[in-house]
Amino acid sequence: MAPILAIESSCDDTACAILSPDGTILAETVLSQAGHVPFGGVVPEIAARAHLAALPALVRHTLDVAALPAGALGAIAASTGPGLIGGLIVGAGMAKGLAVALGRPFVAVNHIEAHALTARLPGLVPGGASFPYLLLLVSGGHCQCIAVEGVGRYRKLGGTIDDAAGEAFDKVAKMLGLGWPGGPAVEALAREGDPAPWPLPRPLRGRPGCDFSFSGLKTAVAQKLAPFADGALPRDAAAGIAASFQDAVADIVADRVAHALDMMPQATLLVAAGGVAANTALRTRLTTLATSRALPFAAPPLRLCTDNAVMVGWAAIETLRERRRLGLPPTDDLDLLPRPRWPLEQMAERFAHPAP
Ligand code: KG4
Ligand code: ZN
Repeated sequence: MAPILAIESSCDDTACAILSPDGTILAETVLSQAGHVPFGGVVPEIAARAHLAALPALVRHTLDVAALPAGALGAIAASTGPGLIGGLIVGAGMAKGLAVALGRPFVAVNHIEAHALTARLPGLVPGGASFPYLLLLVSGGHCQCIAVEGVGRYRKLGGTIDDAAGEAFDKVAKMLGLGWPGGPAVEALAREGDPAPWPLPRPLRGRPGCDFSFSGLKTAVAQKLAPFADGALPRDAAAGIAASFQDAVADIVADRVAHALDMMPQATLLVAAGGVAANTALRTRLTTLATSRALPFAAPPLRLCTDNAVMVGWAAIETLRERRRLGLPPTDDLDLLPRPRWPLEQMAERFAHPAP
């Protein structure tokens, strides 16, 4: 098979990558959209327009970096869900147009599946990430525990019942007067803070299952801040609250992941992905947890943990490989429409043998 070009446009990152069939990254590019900063969060309409403006030149640039003519590509892939529908339509439209023009198959990729399979990129996890493993996906848009049992075989064990972890970081950052995205700013401030005077709750900790909840924690932070008038929050109080909030998130996530591991005793590895997986306090807790269960812990490097197109290309390669292994014809998803929701459990359908 020839190299594959992949596009990611499901949220606020416009990304493109070219991978050879063995997973070697020939080029990877990403543009993080700045237009959302004044709004303190992703504005879907701004995101879609920015993807539309950026993608054609980004695709051309990515081909240049790989030093490949478009005709050398063997397939084109794009995230087609779940995500913000405007951006998905732009990315999928671009990818389908290229596929039709070049006469190559188009592979529709589930964005969450792409996060789930990233750990299997050759060279990322020492010894390789073989199935089954537990994935903790913690980003601005997602917060879930997924049993990754094979290509196309995923079980969501639990997820957030309100905010995603990154969303909670972003909202608390806003309350503390920090910029967006808030996670890195909260982490930096927390480093100089003493959490002890600012105790916060741990919603759902110890409860059966592995669902997450952060909205009560966010409300509790607002209550700690209420006595301070606008602009009158002393630095040590802000830092203490940031540290206490970060400890609470790390405690909650570690507890929920411990429950997820109980639900998946066959797991051979714990993987974390998503922007929040960059958080050092959280990584430390997850490493300790995995060690206590005699499991390795892996988190892809940050650029592959956050939204990127390499993971989309790799998921497409795994899909094509699996179809070949099962004796199915190569997928061509031209008729598949982008969708804001696309449950992982539906991915197995791609490997069902057609009725005789
Ligand atoms: O995966 P990502 O880049 O985009 C999606 O949401 O899909 O994740 C971004 C999220 C933001 O909410 C950001 O505040 C959070 O990840 N984040 C962090 C850190 N770095 C990014 N949260 C906590 N600590 C960090 N160091
Ligand atoms: Zn994502």
